[in-house]
Amino acid sequence: MSYFTLKNGENLYYEDIGKGPETLIMMHGWTSTHDVFEEPVTRLKDKARCIIYDHRGHGDSKGANHEKATMETLAGDLNEIIQGLSLSNVTLLGWSMGAGVALNYVRIYGCSALKQIVLCDMTPKQLNDEEWKLGLNQGTYTREDMERDSGKDFYSLYKAFAIEAVPRLKKVPGFLLRKPLKEKLAQCDEAVLKSLSASMKAQDNRDTVEMITVPLTYFYADPGSLFSPKLAGWYGDHVKTQYQAVCFPGSDHMLVTNDPDRFTENVEKLLASNTVECGEQPYSENRSGKDDAMTLLEAIDVRHSVREYKADPIPEEIRSRLDAFAAECNRDGDLHISIRYDDPAGFDSKLAHYGSFRNVRNYIVLAGEKKPDFDFRCGYFGEKIVLFSQQLGLNTCWAALTFNKKKVKELIDPRDTLCMVIALGYGQTQGTSRKSRSISDVVVSRGTMPEWFRSGVEAALKAPTAVNQQKFAFGMKDGEPAVMVKGIGAYTKVDLGIVAYHFEIGSGRKVRAIQEKA
Ligand SMILES: Cc1cc2nc3c(=O)[nH]c(=O)nc-3n(C[C@H](O)[C@H](O)[C@H](O)COP(=O)(O)O)c2cc1C
Repeated sequence: MSYFTLKNGENLYYEDIGKGPETLIMMHGWTSTHDVFEEPVTRLKDKARCIIYDHRGHGDSKGANHEKATMETLAGDLNEIIQGLSLSNVTLLGWSMGAGVALNYVRIYGCSALKQIVLCDMTPKQLNDEEWKLGLNQGTYTREDMERDSGKDFYSLYKAFAIEAVPRLKKVPGFLLRKPLKEKLAQCDEAVLKSLSASMKAQDNRDTVEMITVPLTYFYADPGSLFSPKLAGWYGDHVKTQYQAVCFPGSDHMLVTNDPDRFTENVEKLLASNTVECGEQPYSENRSGKDDAMTLLEAIDVRHSVREYKADPIPEEIRSRLDAFAAECNRDGDLHISIRYDDPAGFDSKLAHYGSFRNVRNYIVLAGEKKPDFDFRCGYFGEKIVLFSQQLGLNTCWAALTFNKKKVKELIDPRDTLCMVIALGYGQTQGTSRKSRSISDVVVSRGTMPEWFRSGVEAALKAPTAVNQQKFAFGMKDGEPAVMVKGIGAYTKVDLGIVAYHFEIGSGRKVRAIQEKA
């Protein structure tokens, strides 16, 4: 048994088998284990160094359950494995939740360690709505279903999922299913499974797909996929790199174990394939590469407040992506954020000029019902939109004071509270670096600092705060990272939400915000 020790001291079971010019990592799905890849690894080990492992809370990594696991945590674990084993040019294959881990890895760490990505039967967004029918359960599972499910016991939920994943189980009487399903669940830590399920459902990785800079292949079952087979076409339309889809006819969601021959043969072909420069064209479509895709960590690095803007309008396509992203933030954060385009009135005031804002024609309005944590949520979700805007090539600047409050208030529902606004547009410059506190100034816990914690704090120190006050402190509470306000200052609760989001991106871990009641 070999274990990979994570920087937080927890152990993940892993196998590192075979050698060859290629490196292959295969990641299993929710409630599964590394065993699903047993047969492919036996057959591929002469062609590639194959790495398979159990995600935290699963199988032989069941004991790695001390933190609240999210998809970002699993991506952080993968990053530690890639770095810890000094892997490069990796073929990264993820099946089901494993594919979600691959997308989160791309979103946070980029593609520089990868040769290519293989996603197996997985959607970038699980919840379906009016505009998205390529999510869970063949496009039928909605937020309302999720809310209804939250009251049900865990075994019934798992059983419903298993039946959707393996439709032939519908014919098996419930009392016969109970024992094997219970045994499968017993291999995992229930709390980890629950938090991963919630995290997966909260995700929308559609934009991440557009950030992929290495070839992508999609393996999917038809007609037995958990999702619509149209998803194969959707990936083709949104991936900016080489793309091909491989159908597993007659299979279901368990395509790795259902059709190990087709699975292994196709992975083998992909391992043998070179990129276009080497003269081969193994993919059905060849799209122009999008070299300028920016990871969230890069966005954190290059973002600075920008107060002077060019007259260039924001193109329609970018507007609709921003609006869709804001709508998602509103749903997750229970807010009423809106984006105002081509309207200079919001920054047309003496205060705005005094605050050296020039030519602000677009801005994000942070508003909503004044419920608990309102300011924190405005900070957290506002910064999500800020970093997403940066990824789209835009610049921003938060503004609590130096804007035309009267005009902006007229735009929101009178029952709502206006928190503040964020200027948006193409900057005259990209802004400049400013002074920052040091890590030791803002960390209150003693003892050795795990690497992931340090990375989280570094990202938090790059976050915008009102008048650059950086009045926050990070520490560990009950074994979990926590952030709190330190000292007195204006808008510290909004700042807290902003830095919490940066910490999560930098560390790959959720952070608990300790705050007084709103
Ligand atoms: C909650 C909040 C309110 C802010 N309000 C204003 C403001 O009213 N006017 C302004 O010019 N800048 C404002 N800023 C921008 C900060 O001054 C800026 O983020 C800080 O100096 C750090 O610089 P940076 O964003 O370039 O890292 C605000 C920032 C935050 C986070």
